Amino acid sequence: MGAPRLRRILFATSNARKVEEVNVVLRRCGFEAVAHPGAPKVELQSESLEAVAAAAAAAAYAFLRRPVIVEDAGLFVDALNGFPGPYSSYVYRTIGVRGLLKLLEGVEDRGATFVSVIALAYRGGVVLFRGEVRGAIAREPRGSGGFGFDPIFVPEGSTRTFAEMSAEEKTELSHRGAAARRLCEWLREHPEALE
Ligand code: IMP
Repeated sequence: MGAPRLRRILFATSNARKVEEVNVVLRRCGFEAVAHPGAPKVELQSESLEAVAAAAAAAAYAFLRRPVIVEDAGLFVDALNGFPGPYSSYVYRTIGVRGLLKLLEGVEDRGATFVSVIALAYRGGVVLFRGEVRGAIAREPRGSGGFGFDPIFVPEGSTRTFAEMSAEEKTELSHRGAAARRLCEWLREHPEALE
């Protein structure tokens, strides 16, 4: 007897790591995200991850005409009043991990929150699933796994950065894992949404 068939759902992203992490959760609950990097990119300028994710998902659905998820995430650093937050991808591309560490040189308060919002667009509209993880910004980068700011984020309760963990370990603790678990619960209650 083979493994039960996983129900597929398109994931409009070009980030293979995000797909891998979301699938750690989705596969356990009978679904599988499949990367669809081809949908047009709509990046609404907004300070709300929810607004950005919802607009991108609605645009992807209008293009693909099939149920699709989009994820928008950000790192909110306490000592920087939440910066880079919704601008995390731009900040990562411009000043990167080193630049962020420089902004925190001599700063004792290392607290930060990673937030992930997954938006599912389907026939019935757009539904949002939010996940968060509290943690601390390390003094220097550690580890080679993951992506983005993973080498400097130590989740609460751990001594290792996300980049020092496997995708499975990271997802147990991460913002994206939490958002994906909410999505999974919702899909179980609304299986017709994927038709
Ligand atoms: P995006 O706009 O959702 O792709 O994410 C914004 C940026 O936040 C990314 O480019 C990464 O730099 C950072 N980011 C989001 N999620 C994570 C994560 O799980 N680990 C590390 N960095 C992340």
